[in-house]
Amino acid sequence: KLSPIDTAKRVAAYRAAEMVEDGMRVGLGTGSTAAWLVRRLGERVKNEGLKIRGVPTSTATAQLAREVGIEVVSLDQAGWLDLTIDGADEFDGELNLIKGGGAALLQEKIVATASDLMVVIADAGKEVETLGAFPLPIEVIPFGWQTTRTLVEELLDSMDVLGTSATLRMNGEAPTVTDEGNHILDLHLQRIGNPRQLALALNQIPGVVENGLFIDICDKVVIGFGDGRVELRD
Ligand code: A5P
Repeated sequence: KLSPIDTAKRVAAYRAAEMVEDGMRVGLGTGSTAAWLVRRLGERVKNEGLKIRGVPTSTATAQLAREVGIEVVSLDQAGWLDLTIDGADEFDGELNLIKGGGAALLQEKIVATASDLMVVIADAGKEVETLGAFPLPIEVIPFGWQTTRTLVEELLDSMDVLGTSATLRMNGEAPTVTDEGNHILDLHLQRIGNPRQLALALNQIPGVVENGLFIDICDKVVIGFGDGRVELRD
C-alpha cells in the first residue's frame, strides 16, 4: 500500500499522463513524481499503442523511459515539444517554481522552455505562498566554483532574501556532478521576495550556468492529494 505522499504523486502523474496524445513529442521530467508519469506513459504505449517520442531531462529518466518502452529522442532530434511534464520542489500562486532538487535543473529548464505547454505534477505539500523554504539549487561550472560561491553570497546580501549561505551539494565524499559535468550550490534563502529579479541576477555571474527558479515557464500544475483527489491550477 502506498503512503499518502506517494499516492498524491501518483494521482497527479496519472492525471497528467492523460494529457498526452498520439503523435506528441513529450518532455519527460526527473524525480520520483516524474517517474510515475514515465511508467504510466510506458503502460499507455504498451496497452493502447500510444505513439510518442520522449525527450528525457536526465540520464536517469532516459534509462527509465527506455526500460518502459518509450521511444527516446534528443531535444535536437525532436526540435520542439508539444508538452513537457515534470515535477517541482516548490510552486507558488503565480506558478513560479523552484526545481533542481534532483540536480537536473539545467536540462529541465531547456526542455521546458522548448515546449508549447509545460505541466507540473506535484503533491499538495509543495505549494507555498512565497518560494524559498526549499534551498534554491544553482548549477555552477567546477572551474573556480569557490569564487563563484563568494560572488553568489555577495549578491544574495543585496537581494530580498532572508538567508545568504550557499553550500556545495555532495554525493558522499565528492561534490555532486550533474549530467553536464557541473556542480550544484544550494542557496539557503528561506524566503525569496522577488524571484524574477533573483533569477536574472544569478545568471549574470560568470560561473553560474543556470538557476532553479522557473519564472513564467509553467502553464499548469496538477496537484495530487493523499486521499487520491486531484486539483488543477493554471
Ligand atoms: C529534479 O532536478 C527536480 O527539479 C525535480 O523535479 C524535483 O526534485 C521533484 O522531485 P520529486 O518528484 O521526487 O519530489
